[in-house]
Amino acid sequence: MASSIDQRFTIVGATPEQQAAIDTLAKQFLLSDERLGEIIKEFRRRMEEGLATDGKVLKMIPSYVTRRPLGTETGSYFAIDLGGTNLRVLKVTLDGHGGVTTEHQKFPLTEEAKNRTLFDFVAQCVDTFLDERDLRPSGQQPAISMGLTFSYPVQQTSINSGTLVQWTKGLNVPGCVGRDVVRLLQDALLRLGLRVKIVALVNDTVGTLLSAAYSDPAAQMGIIFGTGTNAAYYENVTNIAKWKGPNPSSGEMVLNMEWGAFDSDDFAFLPFTPHDIKLDRKSINPRKQAYEKMISGMYLGEIARNVILWLVDQRMLLDGRSSEVLNAMWSIDTSYLSAAVTDTSPDLSETRQVIEKTMDICNSTHVDRQIFKAIAILVGERSARLSAVGVVATLTKRADLMNKPITVGIDGSMYENYPSFDTILSETASHFIPQSQFRNIKFTLAKDGSGVGAAITAMLAATDDE
Ligand code: BGC
Repeated sequence: MASSIDQRFTIVGATPEQQAAIDTLAKQFLLSDERLGEIIKEFRRRMEEGLATDGKVLKMIPSYVTRRPLGTETGSYFAIDLGGTNLRVLKVTLDGHGGVTTEHQKFPLTEEAKNRTLFDFVAQCVDTFLDERDLRPSGQQPAISMGLTFSYPVQQTSINSGTLVQWTKGLNVPGCVGRDVVRLLQDALLRLGLRVKIVALVNDTVGTLLSAAYSDPAAQMGIIFGTGTNAAYYENVTNIAKWKGPNPSSGEMVLNMEWGAFDSDDFAFLPFTPHDIKLDRKSINPRKQAYEKMISGMYLGEIARNVILWLVDQRMLLDGRSSEVLNAMWSIDTSYLSAAVTDTSPDLSETRQVIEKTMDICNSTHVDRQIFKAIAILVGERSARLSAVGVVATLTKRADLMNKPITVGIDGSMYENYPSFDTILSETASHFIPQSQFRNIKFTLAKDGSGVGAAITAMLAATDDE
């Protein structure tokens, strides 16, 4: 049998050709620390470029959030959280001791909403939420203030306005790019006669950071590793050369990095394989969100599917058979990869289930299942190690913050659910940050932070006197 790069990728019973193909994949997907170090360097350079000038690949968007919650604020605030898959409407009650309780309702985004009627759909859901709780203000009552978390790149123009730069994560509603998303929603609310005023607009990463900050004054960075990926952090305004607005008294502002776009302009630094290129070409946003497409939950299954079909077409997997399911784009959910990665049963029965039941292949050999598992490990591990690139680049940019305890709030399905994602991420980051500083970092799950953060921003906006 041909030698393999790593024991985990030695396929027992494989032909030399099969093993050679897996070795090729391992070479493409396993990234050395040296390689990661080069990507981190480029990431840092791109951050600086985005801080200096608008319109660069890392947009480093000023969020207009210049304050931190203290954790002592009280009261109830409303928010709308529009993410990749769901819409949530929330009523968030701050307890004054860093804790919150939420009452929320979740509405899955319909295909029609994703492709046509998004803002009317959102307005309708807000109406349902208020109506069912008897909160809908009558003509005499003041309008309800709400924060809006909008998880797409927006060039912010104030705390409650901003124009959509582009759609990501599969949304494609015409007529929105270049327009103020708050205006679009406000108009839809008006069409329903709903007395609701959007007082704050935040990216989900900004929301995640603010919700972490309400319970922990050491929070400096918010990250999403979910359907998509992105991060926000507090930056000194003096470091944001392109900022032409007034200097806030705090001296700092949260920046929405929009890091999913890293390397999208020249495709030069990320480890693109033919399988990534194929995904990009067939996506609805080719040559965009290159980093996101290697890392986030929406794409990993599709990368794996491309790899599987590459092997099938060479008759190295599943005896050259595919199925209607396997032939269809996006048919492999990232959760199928999770199932294979954690499958330690002697005959890989979970993996068999995925291949035979979910992917509708009539039978699979033990070699097929080992190969499927190897692909899942490779795609997932590359995602976690590359995720560390953005984390390290950002934290080392603000290295001053790591001299004392610092909290990084992270949310998203990859971080929460993907096997070992969190440990690989932090282990990889530890290779690039001096130990004396690394031990000050606390990575913490900021569950559902994005919506809570919008409510907190609505609270900050209501009490803002700057
Ligand atoms: C969007 C970001 C968002 C991230 C995580 C990306 O596709 O561009 O604005 O923060 O997904 O949801």
